[in-house]
Amino acid sequence: MAKIIGGIGTSHIPAIGRAMDQGLEDTPYWKDFFAGYPPVREWLAEQKPDVIIHFYNDHGLEMFLDKKPTYAIGCAPQYENADEGWGIQPIPPITGETELSWHIVNELIENDFDPTVCQDIKVDHGLTVPLSLLYPGHTYQGIKVIPVCINCERHPMPKPSRSFALGQAIGKAVESWDGDERIVVLGTGGLSHQLDGERAGILNTDFDIECMDKLVDDPEALLKYSNEDLTEIAGGQGVELAMWLGMRGTMHGKVRELHRNLVAPISNTAAGLQLLLNE
Ligand code: DHB
Ligand code: FE
Repeated sequence: MAKIIGGIGTSHIPAIGRAMDQGLEDTPYWKDFFAGYPPVREWLAEQKPDVIIHFYNDHGLEMFLDKKPTYAIGCAPQYENADEGWGIQPIPPITGETELSWHIVNELIENDFDPTVCQDIKVDHGLTVPLSLLYPGHTYQGIKVIPVCINCERHPMPKPSRSFALGQAIGKAVESWDGDERIVVLGTGGLSHQLDGERAGILNTDFDIECMDKLVDDPEALLKYSNEDLTEIAGGQGVELAMWLGMRGTMHGKVRELHRNLVAPISNTAAGLQLLLNE
């Protein structure tokens, strides 16, 4: 049986990739943020996962407002970076995992979740920045990645409770896979932030801490929040909590928090990091 060994929630702010490329990790602006990552990188180096199931959001690169899958899963052998806005970074492609991806898709549809199946997608900072952060020097190529994309850009968005349930269904699908892969699940984005409009720049670190606390021992308590609530409490892009909920949903039962960091603001965002062990 394949096994989910842990989950990691992390920010995916595009400026992080730039800061790493420019060697700014130890500068006053960035040092508290990057200081959070070595324990998680060390844990990954020890655990050597075979597969990453990666809950991310596409900010309009492949899935723009005209075609917006509520949920989408990648089944491709490879994913190329084509991040928008800051200039395309020449980073190595991400390796896909076609067989387990298809198994997850088949199981989801059999169990009444109906994601869009993507055999050819490019990916943006929502997927690439966390991989570069966790595997500095872009050393992620030996790990197979299954992208799970959640609509966080266009209304109507899936309810946060539904993204948690998607994670639970993916967790079940993994348990029914006859392989011995060791899997880590990423949930990227958030935490509180709003990038535009009248409330651009708002943060709510008290709420971010509440979310991180509840993700450890009472994730269901977060399911009472609608996307409208999250927008009000944590900003328009605070809805990116959906990816953390998806990640936590895959890990049923008890989890133990091995590490946490929260730095705000980084760019316009409260940048969270959390490593949860599946017990
Ligand atoms: C920022 C944060 C995001 O989640 C994103 O997708 C883009 C930019 C930021 O804070 O700059
Ligand atoms: Fe984002």
